[in-house]
Amino acid sequence: MAGRGFFLTVEGIDGVGKSTQTRLLAGRLRRLGREVVETREPGGAPGAEAIRRLLVEGDPERWSPETETLLFTAARRDHVERVLEPALARGAVVLCDRYVDSTRAYQGAGGPDQRDLVDLLHRLTIGLDPDLTLIFDLDPAAALARTRDRLTGSGEDRFERKGTAFQARLREEFLRLAAAEPARCTLIDAARPADAVAGQVWAAVAPRLGLAP
Ligand code: TMP
Repeated sequence: MAGRGFFLTVEGIDGVGKSTQTRLLAGRLRRLGREVVETREPGGAPGAEAIRRLLVEGDPERWSPETETLLFTAARRDHVERVLEPALARGAVVLCDRYVDSTRAYQGAGGPDQRDLVDLLHRLTIGLDPDLTLIFDLDPAAALARTRDRLTGSGEDRFERKGTAFQARLREEFLRLAAAEPARCTLIDAARPADAVAGQVWAAVAPRLGLAP
């Protein structure tokens, strides 16, 4: 369903450094003259950002697993309608920090098994799949240490507060998703220094956009 543009999603557990790398990649593509739309989920559009606040703030047990899945999917639908589809239709490169693979990992596999529900909702109500997904991989203890520094005082720590065992389960699921769809997903070793990670990201993305590696 993607138009003439290119839809890249960036995934992984919390604290793997994907936001920094997405920003670097966006800068590099813009310097080469590409229109880049940087966006994120949950959020990325006004309605979806309002739903984000319901999701990332407050008590970790605030929502039932099913309600949480529906809220993430509702936010995604708004984001797809208002931002992603229009950007892809006009030929932009869309860099999206998290998308459906986060729902597959966090809601599908992080608690009670909702993988089938997540896939069904995606097929019926979203229907837009990424052209390429970068899955950033890092040991959960190292990742959690990075997020603690970043999130202190932000109030956006509902998922991080679920702890290292939860993050370890998510990591396994992200690795499983990457292995299940090798044509779409590229694994990025996020334990390496930032410039090495940026090199690995560029090597994965450039050929897909007809650019020099
Ligand atoms: P962020 O901190 O990367 O912006 O994401 C906010 C939190 O929401 C993060 O802990 C991951 C979580 N999340 C889900 O649980 N399911 C989803 O579908 C998405 C997009 C994010």
